Amino acid sequence: MISSEKKEFPEKRMSPEEGGLSRAGEDAAAGTDKNIAGKTEDDIVVRTESLTKIYGDLTAVDHLDLQIRRGEVFGLLGPNGAGKTTTTLMLLGLTEPDAGKATIHGLDCTRNALQVKKAVGYLPDNVGFYGTMTGRENLRFMGRINGLEGKVLEERIDRLLERVGMAQAADKKTGTYSRGMRQRLGIADVLMKDPDIIIMDEPTLGIDPEGVRELMWLIRDLAERDGRTILLSSHQLYQVQRVCDRMGIFVKGKMVACGTLEELGQQIGRDGTGALELSVYPDNISLQRILKEMKGVLDIEKNSDMYVIHSSFDLRRALSKKLTEEGYTIMHLRQAGSDLDEIYRKYFEKAGEQVG
Ligand SMILES: Nc1ncnc2c1ncn2[C@@H]1O[C@H](COP(=O)(O)OP(=O)(O)OP(=O)(O)O)[C@@H](O)[C@H]1O
Ligand SMILES: [Mg+2]
Repeated sequence: MISSEKKEFPEKRMSPEEGGLSRAGEDAAAGTDKNIAGKTEDDIVVRTESLTKIYGDLTAVDHLDLQIRRGEVFGLLGPNGAGKTTTTLMLLGLTEPDAGKATIHGLDCTRNALQVKKAVGYLPDNVGFYGTMTGRENLRFMGRINGLEGKVLEERIDRLLERVGMAQAADKKTGTYSRGMRQRLGIADVLMKDPDIIIMDEPTLGIDPEGVRELMWLIRDLAERDGRTILLSSHQLYQVQRVCDRMGIFVKGKMVACGTLEELGQQIGRDGTGALELSVYPDNISLQRILKEMKGVLDIEKNSDMYVIHSSFDLRRALSKKLTEEGYTIMHLRQAGSDLDEIYRKYFEKAGEQVG
């Protein structure tokens, strides 16, 4: 089993022979920096500029500008058909852009596709193995393709199977594996070549909640302990929001918002469509009158003792001042919309899409 508690992760970092990472891992050991604001240009390892892909009448990816920093977990989030897979295929040099460009480590993903593929591990959404071979045999096959052999190869296989929680199932045929097991073996497979960037397309698809949690811890560990950069695409927000340092929200080929969960919440607030949750003591008629008369209030709903106040701008400060002056005690005051799902709904509703 993959540890689902951070503290249970083994402290020791693996050497390259053990299946760990050499280069970027050193940076991570020096201090994993989740505060991306302090990072420099050199830390940007994946970059797209006006990246565009057109299929007939459809612009699948529309002038995408994206920057992903070393060691961060970036989530490309959006509903079905948003353009997530198309974006990752362009990054991997598997699909050619119609305009703009993508670079990885400064290398053009189309023109230097071979070099880019060496640096990047790719876990597709439909990861497949040779079903009549065991997990271990599949990894051995991949290791040999990448020039590994003998003791180094076997030790790396053992380490990686252990790391992804697949040691016990290693000698079973992959044809018998569940989707979650295939996904974990897929990560081991990607790690065989020790990439410093990993792109995962819908890694949580079809996996049960416990499996998703384990996968999320593994992904965080790959970023924090090894210093690898992870780009994952998903249309399942709840499953991935906690693991991502930053997220880009994709709707119909366009990135409509990008940032940390907190930044996305602020963007919502600025757009003025946020709602406040408020619970106040005492809850009386004059309270309702005060709320109705507050400048900027558009609508008020009430669910038991909780008011939901829709407003044209962020009312938190004005409201708490007013209520305190009037002698009320604020039991609960929260900007609704700081949750990613609400953010997601808002953008999807805007684009006339259903939440996926
Ligand atoms: N090879 C292709 N030819 C024509 N249209 C395509 C092709 N590949 C993708 N598309 C279209 O481009 C749009 C974006 O597709 P893409 O697969 O990138 O979306 P996605 O965000 O990965 O969706 P999902 O969540 O379903 O995986 C869709 O409308 C899709 O039908
Ligand atoms: Mg896709």
